[in-house]
Amino acid sequence: METIETERLVIRKFSPADAPFILELLNEPSFIKNIGDRNVRNLADAEKYILDGPTASYAKNGFGLCLVTLKATGVSMGMCGLIKREALENVDVGYAFLPRFWSKGYANEAVNATLNYGWQVAKLNRIVAITDPKNTASNRVLEKLGFAFEKMIKLKADDIDLKLYAIHKP
Ligand SMILES: CC(C)(COP(=O)(O)OP(=O)(O)OC[C@H]1O[C@@H](n2cnc3c(N)ncnc32)[C@H](O)[C@@H]1OP(=O)(O)O)[C@@H](O)C(=O)NCCC(=O)NCCS
Repeated sequence: METIETERLVIRKFSPADAPFILELLNEPSFIKNIGDRNVRNLADAEKYILDGPTASYAKNGFGLCLVTLKATGVSMGMCGLIKREALENVDVGYAFLPRFWSKGYANEAVNATLNYGWQVAKLNRIVAITDPKNTASNRVLEKLGFAFEKMIKLKADDIDLKLYAIHKP
């Protein structure tokens, strides 16, 4: 998977050197509330997360969660990428940003670039997304990009009900 450049962003693969950023992002209350607690509490945990999660996915699927940086300064702002999980038939898009970078349209720009990658490089015809119904900002990002709500689903039997959105190759 190659580095993706958009107007304002550079989206690239994670490396173990991104552990400090992962440690901060995965402990944001917004990440824990909307995505889940990945139990990453120190730099060693963060390095392990990068290797077992994104890096393993690049090797297995050719895609995975990537680091989103601001082109102008190189600062790390968030993560975005395609995920293939056991619980879902289709590949889904995941994304999260540090709160100080919210509401500037960065999620919109990163998810849009990820969709284009999905259609053109990963040769997918359908990409889904799962969100907490209460996550207004996330639902807004998806609806603005043309995702359609399909149904409520649970990832695990004891999980909360999540909204399943889908978009098809244009
Ligand atoms: C969801 C998230 C990625 C959005 O990132 P972002 O860069 O702020 O998104 P954008 O700026 O591209 O767009 C956000 C949209 O939601 C709107 N929005 C933001 N906060 C909102 C809120 N609390 N209520 C309603 N709308 C909200 C914005 O106005 C914007 O819509 P607009 O373009 O019509 O003005 C970010 O809030 C985040 O990282 N949340 C924590 C992790 C998470 O929930 N990830 C998604 C898991 S499914």
